[in-house]
Amino acid sequence: MQTRSALFLIAFIESLAACSGPTPGAAPAAPPAADAGERIYTANCVPCHQQNGQGIPGVYPSLAGSPVVRGDPAALALWVVRGQRPASMAAGRYGTMMLSFGWMKAEDAAALLTYVRSNFGNSASPVDSATVARALGN
Ligand code: HEC
Repeated sequence: MQTRSALFLIAFIESLAACSGPTPGAAPAAPPAADAGERIYTANCVPCHQQNGQGIPGVYPSLAGSPVVRGDPAALALWVVRGQRPASMAAGRYGTMMLSFGWMKAEDAAALLTYVRSNFGNSASPVDSATVARALGN
């Protein structure tokens, strides 16, 4: 009896899974910007700043509570995309260097910056691509 109801349950779950499969020919839904930001962060920033944004003490700064992350979005975009140091960020704090992300499109940078500003305990406003494009002068 127990085996039969278990088999029934498996068949039932399988039929549900079959129903929820992708519709043939349907276009994939565009991912929400927040997901894009997380993806870009994971692919580019995690080696140094870590998945939790805490960095490595004395080696790579933490993005949690960072005034640069939570401050002026234009200055943040210039730093991350161009490597242009904000006036508020003293040089020589770290013996290591950040990579440059000049290839990043305004749209991608906006999603990424929105992600870092709203994670790791940060709660700063989102950044849109027009703000990034204006900051970068394109
Ligand atoms: C190769 C390691 C490395 C990678 C990869 C990297 N960073 Fe950095 N990041 C650094 C270092 C080192 C500093 C400190 C630079 C300095 O003060 O001169 C820094 C500083 C920062 C700061 C300023 C934080 C503060 O308060 O001092 C931000 C914001 C930042 N990085 C964001 C990012 C983002 C977003 C990415 C991914 C697109 C990224 N970084 C990728 C090494 C890295």
